[in-house]
Amino acid sequence: MKNILILNGPNLNMLGLREPDIYGDQTLDDIKGLCLEKAQALGMEIDFRQSNHEGVLVEWLQQARGVFDGIVINAAAYTHTSIAIHDALKILDIPIIEVHLSNPKDREEFRHNSYIEPLADEVIAGEGARGYLLALEKLKELL
Ligand code: DQA
Repeated sequence: MKNILILNGPNLNMLGLREPDIYGDQTLDDIKGLCLEKAQALGMEIDFRQSNHEGVLVEWLQQARGVFDGIVINAAAYTHTSIAIHDALKILDIPIIEVHLSNPKDREEFRHNSYIEPLADEVIAGEGARGYLLALEKLKELL
């Protein structure tokens, strides 16, 4: 069974309360539940995690080597700033799907650059929580 790491960056633990007009009213736990259901239907295992700390995300990526077969990552604001996360992803040689609930390219200019995008096999943005499910489907196809 393919083992997938789903990583969530800063402030995504506040979904539900956080700018619902942009991010919707589902909580991160709701999204986790949807991902678990989808993974079961696809015959995949998932490990769904969130951290507000860049270094923790980097360590999880380092530890993913040899353990996970694919990654879904919503690095949230670190998408636009983190060369450290970029470098950690570069060490992994497994498919990477970048997900965003909103479409950062349609928002403020400071969200237009992504340090993840050059390493991602696919970017799914602006689909809300459904984006995570589409990412799992894409990984199923790729693996
Ligand atoms: C986000 C978009 C980012 O620009 C923002 O910093 C987030 C969430 C999204 O899922 O739409 O925290 O990654």
